[in-house]
Amino acid sequence: MRVLVTGGAGYIGSHTVRALIEAKHEPVVIDNLVYGHKKVIQNIFKTPLICGNIGNTNLLKSVIFGTHNELISTNHEGKMIDAIIHFAAYAYVGESVKQPLKYYKNNVSESINLLDIICSNDVISRRSSSDPIPIIFSSSCATYGIPKETPITENTPQNPINPYGKSKLMVEEIIKDLAISCNLKSVILRYFNAAGASPDSVIGEDHCPETHLIPLAIKAAFESKPLKIFGDDYPTFDGTCLRDYIHVCDLANAHVLALKIFEKKQVHLKHDYKNNDLCKIYNLGNGSGISVKQIINIIEKVTQKEIKIIIEKRREGDPTSLIASASKIIQELGWEPKYPNIYDIVSHSISWYTKSSFQ
Ligand SMILES: NC(=O)c1ccc[n+]([C@@H]2O[C@H](COP(=O)([O-])OP(=O)(O)OC[C@H]3O[C@@H](n4cnc5c(N)ncnc54)[C@H](O)[C@@H]3O)[C@@H](O)[C@H]2O)c1
Repeated sequence: MRVLVTGGAGYIGSHTVRALIEAKHEPVVIDNLVYGHKKVIQNIFKTPLICGNIGNTNLLKSVIFGTHNELISTNHEGKMIDAIIHFAAYAYVGESVKQPLKYYKNNVSESINLLDIICSNDVISRRSSSDPIPIIFSSSCATYGIPKETPITENTPQNPINPYGKSKLMVEEIIKDLAISCNLKSVILRYFNAAGASPDSVIGEDHCPETHLIPLAIKAAFESKPLKIFGDDYPTFDGTCLRDYIHVCDLANAHVLALKIFEKKQVHLKHDYKNNDLCKIYNLGNGSGISVKQIINIIEKVTQKEIKIIIEKRREGDPTSLIASASKIIQELGWEPKYPNIYDIVSHSISWYTKSSFQ
């Protein structure tokens, strides 16, 4: 399939672009490069990268119809996109609390622009199936807020407690409405904690600023800088929060599997909120809670370096535990994580860090 990957120059997006190429799909990336890395997409994966916002209607249309300048004289020239994987978003929870409008504008308004185009008559009339371009949407465990049950299933009530989580839930709701109004086919994937790097250390996690525990702890180990832990008085076995880490390559492969839903010709059209076959929703995690201190211990073991920690008070809105049940995607799509072991996840991150820092 010809797949438009929004935010494809980012962390999860770039791993997915690679998985798409390996599965013989033909990706095209649109990314505003506020956080993404151009070199990975253009130089390593030799994939067209259109630099711009998904809120730019003309730009987006030209990419979807294959008429954008960057697509001329490529395999994509004049050909329409078959499916969209929508990663493009800002994803800093703390920042979203301080600047909510930045999140509602970028994550919600710009997504509305994208959805508006893929559901427009202009697009639908040019598709042989006469329906909108199907979409896979990156949602988050942040939509569950402080969960009332563990593990979290897709039916666990969603009560996001910050603008980032709310922005993701809003887009989920809009997508569900569009299934009813115009038969939009979609897959909503709710990721838990994406982590790790490609096992060959070609790509990895490079957020700037970095807020995720594993890369921060690796940096602390190699640079002998102290690492802050926010709260060691949670009701867990060692007092620190539990999170469910999923290898970024397993996450990427889940997107390739999800695309298969769109390839199936016979999709039942059920205009029913509760039993909406056009919108499939799946959690993505490994189903095990690893504590902050456990992560630090593993990194110390693998690197043979000590990490100095500073205990700070709890951060507001940090749930004690966020653990997924991913049974649904395992049963329905046959998703099988290749790297569920936290040692593999951490080791791949460390290898990538050492390769990219010391070469
Ligand atoms: N990293 C995680 O653990 C995690 C967990 C749950 C959900 N998610 C979601 O997964 C997606 C990808 O996360 P990531 O960690 O790869 O983040 P990332 O910041 O590395 O990637 C997002 C990319 O989107 C681009 N972008 C942002 N807004 C854009 C816009 N309006 N137009 C075009 N490009 C835009 C950025 O430049 C960046 O390259 C996000 O939607 C995020 O909310 C991530």
